[in-house]
Amino acid sequence: MDKFVIHGGRPLRGAVRVHGSKNAALPMMAASLLLGRGERLVLRQVPDLADVRTMSGLLGELGVVVQRKGSRLTLTVVDDRPIRAPYEIVKTMRASICVLGPLLARRGEAQVSFPGGCAIGSRPVDLHLKGLARLGARPRVRNGYIVARSKRLRGSTVYLGGTFGSTVTGTDNLLMAAVLAKGHTVIEHAAQEPEVQELAHLLNLMGARIEGIGNHRLHVQGVERLHGTEKTVIPDRIEAGTFMAAAAITGGDVTIENVRAEDLTVVLETLQQMGVRLEGGSYTVRIDARGLRRLAPVDVTSLPYPGFPTDLQAQFMAILTLARGISVVTERIYPDRFTHAAEFQRMGAVIRKQESTAIIQGVPRLSGAPVMASDLRAGAGLVVAGLAARGRTEVLRVYHIDRGYDRLEERLNSLGANIRRAKDAAAPAAPAVATA
Ligand code: EPU
Repeated sequence: MDKFVIHGGRPLRGAVRVHGSKNAALPMMAASLLLGRGERLVLRQVPDLADVRTMSGLLGELGVVVQRKGSRLTLTVVDDRPIRAPYEIVKTMRASICVLGPLLARRGEAQVSFPGGCAIGSRPVDLHLKGLARLGARPRVRNGYIVARSKRLRGSTVYLGGTFGSTVTGTDNLLMAAVLAKGHTVIEHAAQEPEVQELAHLLNLMGARIEGIGNHRLHVQGVERLHGTEKTVIPDRIEAGTFMAAAAITGGDVTIENVRAEDLTVVLETLQQMGVRLEGGSYTVRIDARGLRRLAPVDVTSLPYPGFPTDLQAQFMAILTLARGISVVTERIYPDRFTHAAEFQRMGAVIRKQESTAIIQGVPRLSGAPVMASDLRAGAGLVVAGLAARGRTEVLRVYHIDRGYDRLEERLNSLGANIRRAKDAAAPAAPAVATA
């Protein structure tokens, strides 16, 4: 298993280009299952990540051949009969659940391993199942699999809100089911995340009729069939936000290229409140934290889009451990997503956790320590902290980070960081656990 060895304290300088969005690309890849035999979907700017490779493997099991040329993926349906997403793959990546809706809609049946719990919380799929049931699928759980069948789904009105707001992959699944259903579907309390909007735009390019994209209420008029198309995946707002956090915490000056600032309004505003200077161009944002000895404390609450993304909560908590006062971080999407807080404490951070809130008393410095990544974003948060800490930080279980960041260490080094990948001799083989 790999680890990162970081020698902190170097301000980041220069420019870095953001890759395509993981969480947009994964459901877009699953949309290939809506096509018939011989048809193909081409996606450009697809990041080269462990999760994308896992989705390619799963689609391979389901009769779709995935070929990569640079950042361009061609997905060709060679067999439109397989319907089973096996436990061995689903357990390693929760986004596998995105195949449920399209399999059911196009192939009339789906057997998808029921995703288990993970490091960031219990993560149920009840809303996915409720939604598909409203379209007439009658999903059941048998021997650890979600089993659903329907010759032709029927349009209906589906309310997709839950205790923690809307559901991202639940909305993806419902959209991919409704586009081929007979009649009209209304999805109420749909997720508005840019990644969900991109899936809807892709489906429309494939011949679907979705209206209200970006709103809480989506209208879908079912069509008989879809066709192949080409689309570019949007830049990854979470990767962009991670580089911004790395620039801010090190007192750096970094231009982030290939970023859609409109997807990051709350994140940019938070950085400004901390005292960071920002400059924007078209598709670039400059983060200038030079000379800022300690940043101002802020309160951050994760919320569904356009609220502060839960996937940047750990990276921003890292910054706040060094702020000049008390910050409050509240997690409204995954109340238990705080495993990084205990690791930050090992580096000298002062954090008190109460239910879904962490109260952070900023300290003048962090000191390097061995710390453990328990999920993708917690791992990114530890790297951000390590870049600012005095001395040597080792981030263990880098395989979590590789799921969502393509060669993070090389790109940080190109900005002047000192971080290298090494083998963690003491560690056993990577256990298979899913978070993203
Ligand atoms: N929820 C339910 N019932 C459901 C579905 C969700 O109660 O049927 C709850 C969840 O437990 C959570 C909230 O609703 O409290 C939101 O969950 P959501 O379904 O939106 O999450 P997801 O679709 O499983 C995606 C991203 C996550 C990201 C969340 C929230 C992908 C592949 N994954 O997960 O990304 O944290 O939305 O924005 O898009 C990551 O990239 O590191 C990652 C975990």
